Amino acid sequence: MTKRYKVWVSRPLFAEALARLDQHVTLVAEATERQHSPAQLRERLADVDAAIIGLSDRVDAATLAGNERLRVIANLAVGYNNLDIDALTRAGVLACNTPDVLNETTADYAWALLLAAARRVGAAERWLRSGQWTGTMRIDDWLGVDLHGRTLGILGMGRIGQAVARRAGGFDMRVLYHNRHRLPEVTERQCAARWVDQPTLLAESDHLVLALPYTPGNHHIIGAAELARMKRGSVLVNIARGGLVDEAALAAALAAGQLAAAGLDVYEDEPVVHPALLALDQVVLSPHLGSASADTRRNMAHLAVDNVLAGLGLGSAAGDPPTPINPQLLHARPAPGKA
Ligand code: GLV
Repeated sequence: MTKRYKVWVSRPLFAEALARLDQHVTLVAEATERQHSPAQLRERLADVDAAIIGLSDRVDAATLAGNERLRVIANLAVGYNNLDIDALTRAGVLACNTPDVLNETTADYAWALLLAAARRVGAAERWLRSGQWTGTMRIDDWLGVDLHGRTLGILGMGRIGQAVARRAGGFDMRVLYHNRHRLPEVTERQCAARWVDQPTLLAESDHLVLALPYTPGNHHIIGAAELARMKRGSVLVNIARGGLVDEAALAAALAAGQLAAAGLDVYEDEPVVHPALLALDQVVLSPHLGSASADTRRNMAHLAVDNVLAGLGLGSAAGDPPTPINPQLLHARPAPGKA
């Protein structure tokens, strides 16, 4: 079969996902994980019809300038703040992401961070491993914050936020949420969650999970003022994007005891973690791995492949990519290769 299209994969991917692409297209797959400079990205994208990229690959108008060839970008993530969707749409490039397949795994991980932060799992393990458990434990050693019977607040009640909420029943927690748009009553009932305004959410939550997409409009939505409004001794978990939180202000609130603990999977300047957070034992830190279960990462890779193939008009779903971000292009543009 003559292969008409060329596809670039910006990072190592599961072999079986690459093999599916390889059946249909000329594949250029990076064999090592690395950060591509804007110039490298621009150069690679100029030479292909579609690409699968990761969160650290930023695509904007400058990346696309002069690019006459690119038709499809598949982001290996549900969040797409690394993509300038307006610029992609103007350039006629279909953008796709990987929603849904990672909801449950990411929600599980929010609970891992909630439990680890509230019950001081990270600090206690470090203490034990460093050989400091040498005698009997005092009754007031390693006291944490209960989850059961407390109030869980969720800021951002999309599909992941809802999956976090559904798990709270097992802990007998009251669930409050804030979202720009209130959910339909039936969904609220399924999640056993009640909409409140943001100040109420901050004031009443014992544990607050951030699960909202990052946009320039909600940059530092949790800053010094919001942290001061939270309950004293509460716990903050961020599984969304680092830019939602003013990290210096968070470190100050933790150091002052305003917050008891935090669980962070995301950072404003990844892979750099704010040094003030690194210095605090009451913060559980992980390297942006919320969706990283073996099954889910495979499902994400296959979904990205489905999007590329269908976006290029190939395979069984030709022309109908499962998860487009700018689907208006599907109706507006000529069939791939016919322009
Ligand atoms: C991970 O952060 C994602 O957006 O999928």
